[in-house]
Amino acid sequence: MCGIIGYISGKSQKENIEVLIEGLKALEYRGYDSAGLVSISNENLIYKKSLGQVKNLEADVNKILNSSPVFGEGDYSIGIAHTRWATHGVPSELNSHPHTDCNENIFVIHNGIIENYKELKNILEKGGHIFKSQTDTEVIPHLLEKFLKENNNNSNKFDLSFLETLKIIKGAFAIAVIFKELPEMIYVAKLSSPLVIGIGENENYIASDPSALIGNTKKVIYLKDGEYAKVSKNNVNIFNFQSQSVEGEIKKEITELEWDIERAQKGDYPDFMMKEICEASEVLKKALMGRIKIDQNNPGNSFIKLGGLESIEEELKSAKRIIILGCGTSYYAGMVAEYLFKKVSKIPTEVFLASEFRYREEVFVPDTIVIAISQSGETADTIAAIKKCHDNNLTVIGIVNVVGSTISRITDSGVYNHAGPEIGVASTKAFISQLSVLALVSLYIAQIKNKSFDKNLISELNNLGDKMDAILKEENISKIKSFAEKYSNKKDFLYLGRNFNYPVALEGALKLKEISYIHAEGYAGGEMKHGPLAMIDENFPTFAIATRNKKDNVIQDKLFSNLEEIKARKGEILCIATEGDENINHITNDLIYIPETLEELEPLLVIIPMQLFAYYVGKAKNLDVDKPRNLAKSVTVE
Ligand code: M6R
Repeated sequence: MCGIIGYISGKSQKENIEVLIEGLKALEYRGYDSAGLVSISNENLIYKKSLGQVKNLEADVNKILNSSPVFGEGDYSIGIAHTRWATHGVPSELNSHPHTDCNENIFVIHNGIIENYKELKNILEKGGHIFKSQTDTEVIPHLLEKFLKENNNNSNKFDLSFLETLKIIKGAFAIAVIFKELPEMIYVAKLSSPLVIGIGENENYIASDPSALIGNTKKVIYLKDGEYAKVSKNNVNIFNFQSQSVEGEIKKEITELEWDIERAQKGDYPDFMMKEICEASEVLKKALMGRIKIDQNNPGNSFIKLGGLESIEEELKSAKRIIILGCGTSYYAGMVAEYLFKKVSKIPTEVFLASEFRYREEVFVPDTIVIAISQSGETADTIAAIKKCHDNNLTVIGIVNVVGSTISRITDSGVYNHAGPEIGVASTKAFISQLSVLALVSLYIAQIKNKSFDKNLISELNNLGDKMDAILKEENISKIKSFAEKYSNKKDFLYLGRNFNYPVALEGALKLKEISYIHAEGYAGGEMKHGPLAMIDENFPTFAIATRNKKDNVIQDKLFSNLEEIKARKGEILCIATEGDENINHITNDLIYIPETLEELEPLLVIIPMQLFAYYVGKAKNLDVDKPRNLAKSVTVE
């Protein structure tokens, strides 16, 4: 949560601020309660905080820049900026970052939580420090002020004060600091919250997320927990603040980012959410690229190649149990994988919410492999759950989209999604990508364990992109839009699915909740009569997944009975069914057809109309579909 960006260069203040504002816009999905920046160029200092989205800050800063010809001139510039997702203190200008010391000489932006801020604040207030905000962050500039005073006669006072502050604060943080007295340096540090340094020519950047750097530089250095850095125009010096002995500078590897600017822009789409839903087939293609080897002459010889798992192939061969971890949408993708791993790989599998797993008692058995799923690779609960697995000597595979993110670095092996940046706060293309990768992993495990599985799965997976594009045809989208408008005034919604599509019902309901703020519950169809049926009346509609496939239609028949029960209670029904299936017509009020596929792969198609439905309900209610209220893209705090 919260986005941070910093930039130091030999350019003018106007250019400095442009980079900061563009960076904040790219990071807005991490939080958008309020935003602020400080920029120093020669003698000019601009310090501004604004409530609401980054565009408000941009307008306010432009007014300042336009008010005086002095602003904008200069031959060097330094700045840090922040977009906030409130944890401590309501969203307000005062609570937004940067925070300062008593005399506004030190500027701090922070992502994370300072757990011991209350006791620190007490001590500082007793020492005469005046606090302006209700935030935990504000203790940092006041601590720096205190230590600077104490070290005043030391030529190394900035480094010393920064280190002393880092050693005293507890919790999770990615912080960036500018001292007015030392305007050629940004100090940064990281502990449990992400921080990346972008390397340019005669310019350097810092950010909470590489997506803020796209278009500026592709060269990045990821800080590890316990590291801090001094970033100037031409240098980056990295050290450790946790080690007892005074270590020297740490040499770090520069990583090349693979994302390009087009993938992080809306293009001709009205919103990122729509763009990302429409990228379904491209995302599938990227997930499969180089990983499926089709033998055209003999499809039975087709096979899966996952380079990222080869190093643990022997462990996978002897694995007797799989644990899957994730949160939100990633957890639902994991639930689909549980069905896949049992059916295709024939291995006992359990899926856990990472937030629960990290605190519950678990019985760890040998030969267990863990799969952690995360789009951002920065979700605090998932990271903590991985650490718990490592403490119990389990091997962890990461399925992660953001290259170089924390989870991609702490896992023992992994498979990247390669879905490109997902900007919309609600996960759409990431879910498609996760399902694609998990299908590959299930096939790969079956293959190396010599388990028999339906070889058609490989070719069908490879061909699914055309079916996704068919769902996304204009006439289908308009139909879904009209259904969304029809149902947009409802207060509640029930989502039903069975078997592979049960987790998809949960994910569909999550999308509606996030995007339209309508209460939506996902249920397994068979559970209806065990309780939820009591809620059904003419105002409580149901969105049901009633697909049919050649292999087995028992499930659909059962679901039909569930729907009949709803109909008998006057509940309206909107169904997703398989093209050509007319049995459904007499039950449902509204109908969306999708092409037929194998049941194991149905979730990859079914979710698309559900995402579109949530999108258009949100639009009908005039809501910001890319930035739902109260949410942030990467949940880097508990
Ligand atoms: O980045 P991750 O996949 O670890 O994020 C997990 C959840 O926070 C995320 O899926 C969240 O539920 C989304 N808002 C769902 O749309």
